[in-house]
Amino acid sequence: MRVFVDCDPGIDDAVALAYLAARPEVEIVGVGAVFGNGGVEVTADNALRLLGLYGRPGVPVAVGASRPLVQEPRLAPHVHGENGLGGVELPAPTGSPVAESAAELLVRLARSHPGELDVLAVGPLTNLAIALGLEPRLPELVRRLVVMGGAVRVPGNVSSHAEANINNDPEAAEAVFGAGFDLDLVALDVTMETVATGEWLEELKGVPGERASRTSDFLDFYADFYKGIFGVRQCAMHDPLAAAVLVDPHLVTESVEAPVRVELAGSLTRGMTVADLRPRPGADGRRPVRVVTAVAGGEFLGRMLDALR
Ligand code: BDR
Ligand code: CA
Repeated sequence: MRVFVDCDPGIDDAVALAYLAARPEVEIVGVGAVFGNGGVEVTADNALRLLGLYGRPGVPVAVGASRPLVQEPRLAPHVHGENGLGGVELPAPTGSPVAESAAELLVRLARSHPGELDVLAVGPLTNLAIALGLEPRLPELVRRLVVMGGAVRVPGNVSSHAEANINNDPEAAEAVFGAGFDLDLVALDVTMETVATGEWLEELKGVPGERASRTSDFLDFYADFYKGIFGVRQCAMHDPLAAAVLVDPHLVTESVEAPVRVELAGSLTRGMTVADLRPRPGADGRRPVRVVTAVAGGEFLGRMLDALR
């Protein structure tokens, strides 16, 4: 399968790349970087370094949006460290970003492989919204889009109702949810339930090799942050779970179809993902998305460890 990854690495983005890179049947045809966990120069540089670490050094990486469509950018050094990887210095990349922007690269790949390109979006959705502006037929050209973002029936993580990726660019997210993609939404509803436990993190420490040891180093930083949320040393694996939903769809044990809109005006709820869960949703013709509501968490954690072996 051909996969384009749009991401803001980012510690859990890194593990999502590891998950895909470990799979011989996955051809990562391009990576778009977006601001989010760090500035876009940082996330693009990290993408190049991570593709080297995980054995895919030749994948084209394109620099994308440095800011949201409308609001001011907010970065997350307190979650991912100043360098986006918990202060862990990976070897310098052998290549440089390509000349095209992330949106241009995505559009070109979608046009060259119509109906065959899958897209994994695990950062703010700005690059995808820009790509839609360049190519409004993108939802027909792309086979499947998996988005990590939102909080449907659970609280948000950056405000009472908003999740970070959506909150970082609500206008872009609203454009993407309204565009008609065949879309799976992997929201906090499942990612906060599917955590790398202290035991899993210990097991990773015992895995030999550079990719496991470096990953373990930055996950230590991430687990320290998440200890403040969970009360114990474990961490939410948001982006790797979205990667798993893309390449191992059988891991989804329950989902619900609903049109999703993003709240843009609410003074308390801006950035909230509003899923219309009524049996007969309000009709504006919006294509429903599949909201993942349960996954086979044990198998996912095993597969994530295998990817790092
Ligand atoms: C999402 O926000 C980012 O910090 C993570 O990488 C993930 O994509 C979780 O809310
Ligand atoms: Ca991310």
